[in-house]
Amino acid sequence: MPDYVRLMRHEDIDQVVVIDREAFPTEWPPPNFKRELENRLATYIVACNATELTEETEETPPQGGLTMLLSRVSRLFTPGRLPDSKWSAKGGEYITGFAGFWVMADEAHITTIATRQTCRQQGIGELLLQSIIDMAARREARIITLEVRASNTAAQKLYTKYGFTQVGLRHGYYIDNREDAIIMSTDHITSPSFKAQIKEIIEAYTTKWGPDRYRMST
Ligand SMILES: CC(C)(COP(=O)(O)OP(=O)(O)OC[C@H]1O[C@@H](n2cnc3c(N)ncnc32)[C@H](O)[C@@H]1OP(=O)(O)O)[C@@H](O)C(=O)NCCC(=O)NCCS
Repeated sequence: MPDYVRLMRHEDIDQVVVIDREAFPTEWPPPNFKRELENRLATYIVACNATELTEETEETPPQGGLTMLLSRVSRLFTPGRLPDSKWSAKGGEYITGFAGFWVMADEAHITTIATRQTCRQQGIGELLLQSIIDMAARREARIITLEVRASNTAAQKLYTKYGFTQVGLRHGYYIDNREDAIIMSTDHITSPSFKAQIKEIIEAYTTKWGPDRYRMST
């Protein structure tokens, strides 16, 4: 089964909280995901993997059995298309990562992005970021911004790969250890040069990870 990205739902929150706590253990209080899902400015997405689901969940699959469910889901996956919203087999998806962003005026601001610890360095962070870039462009954002800890070189590498550059610094921004935040931003995301850069990265990504990975594009 493919990895795919879809909008976060209330029933995802339990899994997302686990990923959030292992990713940001020192950040307190944790985000209120329930409130964020009700926030009109915010968009939250999850990356899912249905293969792991069969190993991880003990829940009874919906009527028709798991085989039928999986084959139905598999038919729903065409590039750029999301799983049908009716496919919400409770507990039926293994969430491997999540991300959130706000769009205000012409700026999309990434509030969070995290991959489940056991699923890192398998292209999930990239899949989430590709989805955010696509969605932000469709929502007519001109740029995408974010803050990242000065010590978080893994995340900085990810953002740099996707065309983000440092545009500022917030001294002592993080309350837990007074660490500086690096402010990063893209260029204009609908510019031909940025689009060409992303297209090239996605092509390389598809070559590396295969075609069965579906980013969110609505
Ligand atoms: C940052 C994070 C989301 C990356 O997710 P991921 O699923 O492991 O990332 P991917 O496998 O898609 O990696 C893509 C790119 O990120 C960079 N990267 C990811 N992990 C890295 C690491 N440990 N060291 C160096 N670069 C790394 C690389 O540029 C990589 O591309 P490459 O394989 O071509 O070198 C993940 O490490 C995480 O959840 N960290 C904790 C939460 C966090 O710090 N979030 C960012 C807050 S600003």
